Amino acid sequence: MQGDSSNNDSCPADFLPDSLDQWPSFAELLRRGGLLRKATSWGNTDTYVLRTCDGTEYLLKTFARQPFLIRILLGRISIRNEYNALVFLHKKGFQHAPKAISLLNSDSLLMEYISGASQLMKNEKYSETERPSPLFFQNLISLTRDLHQMGVSHGDFRRANILRLPGDVPILIDWTTAMIKCPDHKKFSLCRLFFNVARKSDLYSLASITESYYPDLLDGELNQYLDKQPWFLRVGRFLRQKFYRQFIKQLTGRKKHLTDVS
Ligand SMILES: Nc1ncnc2c1ncn2[C@@H]1O[C@H](COP(=O)(O)OP(=O)(O)O)[C@@H](O)[C@H]1O
Ligand SMILES: [Mg+2]
Repeated sequence: MQGDSSNNDSCPADFLPDSLDQWPSFAELLRRGGLLRKATSWGNTDTYVLRTCDGTEYLLKTFARQPFLIRILLGRISIRNEYNALVFLHKKGFQHAPKAISLLNSDSLLMEYISGASQLMKNEKYSETERPSPLFFQNLISLTRDLHQMGVSHGDFRRANILRLPGDVPILIDWTTAMIKCPDHKKFSLCRLFFNVARKSDLYSLASITESYYPDLLDGELNQYLDKQPWFLRVGRFLRQKFYRQFIKQLTGRKKHLTDVS
């Protein structure tokens, strides 16, 4: 990236030059970008949409505004991991993930913006006409199996990380926890063990999401996964409900109290 550059007359002020080499400073990118979603906790990113004069849209994920320790211990590792996974998937020809463009700095990843997509919602939130068709879930099942076949697990497989494009095309986003399986000759390594755990967690989530829409789509293998929720997901849910939500409630309560008295 170079220093700031002004746009030509035909281009609105907040749009960026077409060539990434001419993009302004990072602070200026955030200023010009549209904030799509602010981080809801230390564990996730602020996401922005950046537009260039020629109409290209990019998605920027950044931990830059998170506390220093979080950036060092979590942010940088997960942003780089997501970048590596997206590059790997693109090389393998996987069509159901955004394309990584570059790491703008150690806290920030730039990728293709999937335009016209909507986040998958709970079944009960859809009207009869808006609900994704069985084909969407058949596609989701087959892309997940392809993914594992390629030696990649997603690791955070949930509705919020599944986008739906018109034509019942699913796209998986948020690859910060993805794992690439280690080479086959390393049969008993820890890496293979972790990969298997993550793969099972993907399949459990895939089965429970699909079941909440069309239970008949589950085949024997997915039904099996549905019966055994992995212990780490049970523990995760327990910790989230018992401690994390309480902690966030107390924190936001205290913040509100401070603003009320000031
Ligand atoms: N490539 C993309 N194209 C369009 N929207 C995206 C893309 N990546 C993420 N988003 C949007 O940004 C939100 C947050 O992105 P996500 O990768 O899930 O980050 P987080 O780690 O903060 O959950 C998503 O819920 C989705 O709405
Ligand atoms: Mg997410």
